[in-house]
Amino acid sequence: MAAGMLMPMVRFAVDPVLKGEDAGDFIATPLKIADINNEPQKVNFKFTQKDAWYESEETGTAWVFKNEEGKIVALSPVCKHLGCVVDWGTDKEHPEQFFCPCHYGRYEKDGTNVKGTPPLAPLDVYPTKEKDGFLYVGKAEPRKGA
Ligand code: FES
Repeated sequence: MAAGMLMPMVRFAVDPVLKGEDAGDFIATPLKIADINNEPQKVNFKFTQKDAWYESEETGTAWVFKNEEGKIVALSPVCKHLGCVVDWGTDKEHPEQFFCPCHYGRYEKDGTNVKGTPPLAPLDVYPTKEKDGFLYVGKAEPRKGA
């Protein structure tokens, strides 16, 4: 009988943890697929983060563009050196690259880190999908083979 009473309590306590790790979820962004071109654009999106007993509204960011093959690319803005935020085209000497102002890290348009600058890995990549004409992103992941 005690087990019968405890199970709902345990499930109540554990459920949020399990839901918080639902890696298959995609998050809606306000960016229309039709508005994505070959120039990286910054898109912010809201999502709910669930820890064990705490739920918070967070804002995520992606740099989104179409590559030469017309495929949509969504890059994390988090620098792989020490976690600052990269911008597109803000370094006057390298306007076609992502630039991290913290320690002058640079990345090619496809997110590959430029050798000789502090970052040692490419920017993480969001899986993407389209729904009702809008871009959805999954959880950012390190680039495969990097
Ligand atoms: S945190 Fe980006 S270069 Fe250091």
